[in-house]
Amino acid sequence: MKEISIYIHIPFCKSKCSYCNFVSFVNCENYFEEYVQSLIKEIKLFSKECKNTIVKTIYVGGGTPSILKAESIANILNVIYANYNIDDNAEITVEANPNSLTYEKVKIWVDAKVNRISIGLQAKSNKLLKLLNRPHNYNDFKNAIQQIKRAGITNISTDILIGLPRQKWLNINRTINKLIKLKVNHISAYGLILEPETKLYKQVESGELKIPNDDKSVKFYQKTRKKLEKNGYFCYEISNFAKIGYESKHNLNYWARGEFIGFGVAAYSFYNGMHWENTTSLSEYLKNEFKKLNIEKETEKTAKEEFIMLALRTTNGLDISKYNQIFKTDFKKEYSKQLNKLINNNTVKIENEFLKVIKTEITNLIIEEFF
Ligand SMILES: C[S@@+](CC[C@H](N)C(=O)[O-])C[C@H]1O[C@@H](n2cnc3c(N)ncnc32)[C@H](O)[C@@H]1O
Ligand code: SF4
Repeated sequence: MKEISIYIHIPFCKSKCSYCNFVSFVNCENYFEEYVQSLIKEIKLFSKECKNTIVKTIYVGGGTPSILKAESIANILNVIYANYNIDDNAEITVEANPNSLTYEKVKIWVDAKVNRISIGLQAKSNKLLKLLNRPHNYNDFKNAIQQIKRAGITNISTDILIGLPRQKWLNINRTINKLIKLKVNHISAYGLILEPETKLYKQVESGELKIPNDDKSVKFYQKTRKKLEKNGYFCYEISNFAKIGYESKHNLNYWARGEFIGFGVAAYSFYNGMHWENTTSLSEYLKNEFKKLNIEKETEKTAKEEFIMLALRTTNGLDISKYNQIFKTDFKKEYSKQLNKLINNNTVKIENEFLKVIKTEITNLIIEEFF
């Protein structure tokens, strides 16, 4: 049976963080129940197309899934279990914000087979959290971690950001020290992307706030990586660090170009060689028409580019034999010009038939060479 992942988007937040451009709406409590009912309809409707598949991972992300009643998340998951074939060892993750997570909520999730929680901290400094308009402080985060563990979940991931305004290495170091002490076993350390149309973008443009320049951010990333590796978190993708055995199976499926179905506002899918998106409009989604937008058939060119881009971001690198097998070609011949240049500059290497990036701080530039 074909293996797939399922992503559920919960597009609601308590407040909007100044840097965030994800599709999430505030002050929409009145729509929560209606949205859950629409999701359930969409999930049931699509199940016919997935008869011969097995679901290996489910990720309820956002937005802020923990903002919903715990029973709503349980309902959504139970509808998936009733309509799809689920692997006995499926990884089932819920994303949470520290201020909207309680022991009781996690208990209900656990009863609905949730076995992993991803919780956003971003930074330890309360001043910085306030500056970013995060709706919680560090103590809320620490309490949330305690409640998650008390409810029986040990597979915990935390997001932090590198390159925030006024951030110094000292701040990042303190954040990491706390996470090590709290024994979270997976850390995503994302480099801040200054997204146009965010409040932070305007604050930086106007000179009100300053963010570290690229050189500084690269140094912060290198130090973060060194520190996390020294403390037993292995870097399995450029922004993702895990204790052995705690890599995110859901993300590994994305990076291996595995198939996935996304449900909800702005969700994205890749299934049967087709890519499509759902509407980004809440009112449109609530009409329950579930139109597939921007449908794109995968071409050999896009498939190759995606394979290269995703594989080079992982620590294992690009499996040359797998590439040759999938695309019935000879990778080394096809890209001999690029490989000669990059190997001579010492930016990539080939080890046991895997192409690996050496200079990870310029991974994106290296990837561009192949396009
Ligand atoms: C969409 S959020 C959902 C998680 C949760 N709502 C939270 O904020 O903790 C997932 C993660 O994306 C990251 N993120 C959001 N905006 C970003 C940006 N502009 N640049 C880099 N990472 C970003 C944050 O680390 C965040 O935890
Ligand atoms: S809580 Fe998460 S999804 Fe919501 S605005 Fe903040 S970063 Fe974005």
